[in-house]
Amino acid sequence: MHTAKICENIWRIGANLSSAELFEGIWPIPYGVSVNSYIVKGEKTALIDLVKDCDNAAGTYREQLQELGLGFDSIDYLILNHMEPDHTGYLAKVKEEKPGMKIYCTKKAAALVKAFYKIEEDIVEVADGDQLDLGGKTLVFAETPNIHWPETMMTWCPEDRVLFSCDAFGSFGSVAEDRVFDDQMTAEDMEFFQRESLRYYANIVSTFSGFVNKGIAKLADLDIGVIAPSHGPVWRDKPETIIRMYQEFASYLAGPAEDHITVIWSSMYGNTASMLETVIQALEDSKADYSIFKIPRDHVSFVLADVWKSRGLIIGMPTYEYKMFPPMAHAIDIFDRSHVKNKKVFRFGSYGWSGGAQKQFDEMTSKLKWEYLEPVEWQGAPEQADKDQTYAQVTRLVKEIREM
Ligand code: FEO
Repeated sequence: MHTAKICENIWRIGANLSSAELFEGIWPIPYGVSVNSYIVKGEKTALIDLVKDCDNAAGTYREQLQELGLGFDSIDYLILNHMEPDHTGYLAKVKEEKPGMKIYCTKKAAALVKAFYKIEEDIVEVADGDQLDLGGKTLVFAETPNIHWPETMMTWCPEDRVLFSCDAFGSFGSVAEDRVFDDQMTAEDMEFFQRESLRYYANIVSTFSGFVNKGIAKLADLDIGVIAPSHGPVWRDKPETIIRMYQEFASYLAGPAEDHITVIWSSMYGNTASMLETVIQALEDSKADYSIFKIPRDHVSFVLADVWKSRGLIIGMPTYEYKMFPPMAHAIDIFDRSHVKNKKVFRFGSYGWSGGAQKQFDEMTSKLKWEYLEPVEWQGAPEQADKDQTYAQVTRLVKEIREM
């Protein structure tokens, strides 16, 4: 990987982390994820955000610094927009290499730098509006809590209108060396990053959607020329594209989301699965836009992305030991943590000796402001009457979400 010049004396350096890793130990990244950092050179040199050292990311960073005639020991200021270890894992090593290097971060981040890396010296705590003069370039700091964690800030370079936004406006997916910028991407790349931005948003950021709205409102007065996030492409041609996408994703918290239905189903012995044909027939007959996932076969990371953008959910789930089918309970718990709210929901499912799934489902989702259509449950295998009822409910769901 080589450096990518954003404008005079500002470069993106970065590395792609491999698909073998689970991001945050949870989320699959089959297409990898890029970690981006930025060099801003005035009379003094600043590095904005770091990386954790896996997949030789630190070595890759070192090579790119060399391309610019720099090393970690020539960094005067390290700006930490965010403390999460994907951006700070290599911090202690860098500090060893450049002992006097000043670290600029928020007060909350300073406490975490101490907790994670036992570093207390040379830390400059910054607050909203504080500035750092590099000599020819200025860095202005803006606290943007909870995009992605409470200590997060963004950094703005007014001379070049570049916003270093850290996790905000980020995406999963590796970045090709010759296609770092939005204007270098093919239509296929763009489609890929739109998909992976949504999955990144749903997996990583959605819980904090209210803060995303506040953060975007805070940026309203800036004449942004470049969005330089810590993951995914750098948006120098049309920065408004990714801002709009994030605005839209955040708006799904309060709904309505897209005219799309996500069907999520699980089955023990095939009795719940046997209703799927009816569900799909009703969706097809209504010309609905829908996607289907099987739990636990499909990872909840991908399910969550589609659920986040959907107005309607159809959940097929049997009762298991008087409660919800456990892998589905896990998925619902993830939806709860991710604040999947304001959906229209229809559930169907079979039970054997006893029901119980619906009771636990109602309890688990009671805080999510979901609007429920009457569920269809049956003992053992479904009768034709159960199928007719399910067909009618799915048809009704499609109609109602179209009217939202
Ligand atoms: Fe990319 Fe919240 O770390």
